[in-house]
Amino acid sequence: MIGRKKRRAIAAETAEAIGGATAAIDRQRRGQPAPVAPQREVVRFGHGSRVPGWDDAVDLAKNPAEIPDPSTTPVPAKLRAEIEAHMAKYPDFRSASIPALAAAQRVHGWCSPEAIWQTACVMRLTPGYLISVASFYDMLETHPVGRHAIYVCTNISCSLCGADELLERLAQVVGDDPDFNVRHFECLGACDIAPMASVDGIYVGPISLDEVPVLVEQVREGTPPLPGKQLHLRKSTDPGAARALPAATAADPGAARATPGAVNPVSPTHSHGAPMGGEPTGPPAPIERPPATEDDA
Ligand code: FES
Repeated sequence: MIGRKKRRAIAAETAEAIGGATAAIDRQRRGQPAPVAPQREVVRFGHGSRVPGWDDAVDLAKNPAEIPDPSTTPVPAKLRAEIEAHMAKYPDFRSASIPALAAAQRVHGWCSPEAIWQTACVMRLTPGYLISVASFYDMLETHPVGRHAIYVCTNISCSLCGADELLERLAQVVGDDPDFNVRHFECLGACDIAPMASVDGIYVGPISLDEVPVLVEQVREGTPPLPGKQLHLRKSTDPGAARALPAATAADPGAARATPGAVNPVSPTHSHGAPMGGEPTGPPAPIERPPATEDDA
């Protein structure tokens, strides 16, 4: 329903519009030209764009970007093997940039210049290419952070259930402990346990404000955070869920089945999950090539 004040404002706007239109018709009848609206001033930067820097030309005086030289760039053997395994999974090896950076982050704690340099060396890419990827994705850190990542979801469901207060309380309890990286995150996809957080990659919720000191202490001690509230241990209509899944073997790749009564051993140790190693099983992904002749198309 529209209030009296709003009705008056609408009436005034309508009268003004009608008045303007009437004046324009009068001018037309008398053969007078329409008034020219004052030119609006558009602020532009030196290069002519309204956005600083975006249209700057490449600096041709600079040396071209370099791919790090393997003979002068030592890369830990395990990291190299993991990055190469990721590269082998994709028709275009650059698609492995995210998992490769995540692997380097696990080794170095963040996407440090050294981590970027080593990844670029193995992938035969420029560090600039990888920096553009690392700076785009939220879970790739481009500054040093604490090793314990607590992401509090502050999206709508969690927000309505008190996520902002939860984030504030966590920040308060953690204080200036440099071992922690407490931050807000958008929907983590576990809205049914709101308000929730990803604690070193483990989804926990709903978390009450009273539980925050216990949770922080458990993370400090390296014990499971609020085990009774971990999403992957919750009861499910699937009797096989939340139990151990034996790894598939080469002889029996489809063998992953629940083991009744077993304790789930696959707690993630990092927010990116367990590293993926080894060669992928099965046929390689097809590489798309343009047809050789028009008849092939
Ligand atoms: S809104 Fe928090 S998990 Fe979706």
